[in-house]
Amino acid sequence: MTEKKFELTDLSSGKKSLLPVKSGTIGPDVIDIAHIARDHDVFSFDPGFGVTAATESKITYIDGDAGVLLYRGYPVEQLAEKSSFMEVSYLLLDGQLPSRAQLEKFTRDISRHTMINESLLRFFNGFHHNAHPMAMVSAVIASMSAFYHDSMDINNPRHREIFAHRVIAKLPTIAAAAHKHSLGQPFVYPRNDLSYCANLLHMFFAVPCEPYYVDPVAAEALDLLFILHADHEQNASTSTVRLAGSTGANPYAAISAGVSALWGPAHGGANEAVLNMLEQIGSVENIPKYVAMAKDKNSHFRLMGFGHRVYKNFDPRAKIIRAACYKVLEKLGTSNPLFELALRLEEIALKDDYFVERKLYPNVDFYSGVIYSALGIPRSMFTVMFAIARSVGWVAHWQEMIADPAFRIGRPRQLYTGATRRDYAEITKR
Ligand code: ACO
Repeated sequence: MTEKKFELTDLSSGKKSLLPVKSGTIGPDVIDIAHIARDHDVFSFDPGFGVTAATESKITYIDGDAGVLLYRGYPVEQLAEKSSFMEVSYLLLDGQLPSRAQLEKFTRDISRHTMINESLLRFFNGFHHNAHPMAMVSAVIASMSAFYHDSMDINNPRHREIFAHRVIAKLPTIAAAAHKHSLGQPFVYPRNDLSYCANLLHMFFAVPCEPYYVDPVAAEALDLLFILHADHEQNASTSTVRLAGSTGANPYAAISAGVSALWGPAHGGANEAVLNMLEQIGSVENIPKYVAMAKDKNSHFRLMGFGHRVYKNFDPRAKIIRAACYKVLEKLGTSNPLFELALRLEEIALKDDYFVERKLYPNVDFYSGVIYSALGIPRSMFTVMFAIARSVGWVAHWQEMIADPAFRIGRPRQLYTGATRRDYAEITKR
C-alpha cells in the first residue's frame, strides 16, 4: 500500500513539499504539518482548534457525525448500562477493564484517600458563604500541591499513580466541604464503607444530629451521570489540563486549571445555565420567543445545552440522560416541570430550520440538571459534579501525556496583526 501524502504547493514561489499523513485506528487521517514552517516559512491558522489534532491519544474516540462515543473502545451506551463509575475510571486510566480483584483493589485505593488534610479544610472559612463552589473547588485543588510534596515527582510513575488516586478520591470531599460551607452546616467526614457516589451524597446531605440513609436510586443515578461525564477526549478543560501540565507544573495546579476552564457556560457551566434558562423561559408558550432570540445574531442569547463542537448529530450522552430522567423521576416519586419544558424545547428546536441546518442537537448538559435537581443537588453545584466525574479524564490524559517520551511544552503560534516596528515617543511628544 502506498503511503498517503498531501502535497503543499506555494503558488508564489512554486516550492512544493509532501506532507506525511498519519492514520489512527479509526477516525479521519491527520496531515503532519510539523515542518511547514521550516520548509515554507508559514504556520497553520486554526482559531478554536476546530481541525487541529494536538496529540495522539488512546483514551476516547468520538465520531461526531454518527453520534458515537467510545471509552478505550467501549461504546458509552454499554458502559452506562453495565458498568460503574469506579470501573470506568479504572478503564480510562489503565486502558483495560479490570478483573474483579483489580477493581476491588482500585476501589479500596480510592476510598483510602477520601479524607483531606484538616488544614485544607480550614481554607473554606476564608470564603464568603455565597462564594460560587467552583471558585472554592479550583482554589482548594490548586492548594493541594502545598500538602503533598512527598509525591509530586511527575517523572515517577508511582507518584503519578498516588496523585491520580488523591485527586479522584478527594474531589468529592472538597465539593462537599464547599457545599456545607455555603449552607453553614458542619462538614461531614467521608465514609469509606460506602460506594463513591453514595459517599458523596452522604457528605452532601448528612448532618451530625440525625442518621442519614443514602437512597440507592440516587446513588445509582449519580453513578450513571459520572460515567457519562468521565471523559470526552481533547475538550477545552482537558486541553487546558494538558497545556498547564505540559510545562511540568505540578498536577494539582494543572487540574485546578482544568476546573477553571470547565466553569464557562460554553463548556461545563452549561448544566447550571440550562436550568437557569428553562426557569427564565418559564412556560411552553414562551418557547418560540426564546428560540427566536437564540436565532437572532444581535442577541447574545443561545439555547444552553444545545450544540457541540464535535457532535453534529445527537450527543449519545444526552439520549441516555433523557431516558434516565424519566426513570429517576419516577423511582424517586417526583416530577420536575422544567423537564417537561426541556422536552418541548428540544422538540420545537429540532423542527426549526436554524437548528436543523446547523446540526444543533441537545448536548450532555441539556438534561443532566434535571437529575441533579431531583437528587437535591443545588444548581451552583452542577458544574462541580461535572468536575468530579471529569477529574478521571483529566488525570488519564495528563498521565498519557507525561508518560509519552516525545511530549513537549504546548506552545501555539499566532498570526500577528498588531503594529509593525515603531520607535518609542517621549510622553511630551504624543
Ligand atoms: N443556540 C443558538 N445558536 C447556536 C448555538 C446555540 N446553543 N450553538 C451554536 N449556534 C450557532 C452559532 O451561532 C453558529 O451560527 P452561524 O453559523 O450562523 O454563525 C453555528 O451555530 C455554529 O456555532 P459555533 O459557535 O461556531 O460552534 P462552536 O463549535 O464554536 O461552539 C458550543 C460549540 C460552544 C457548544 C456552542 O454550540 C454553544 O455555545 N452551545 C451552548 C452552550 C453549551 O451548551 N455548551 C455545552 C457544550 S457540551 C460541554 O462542553 C460539556
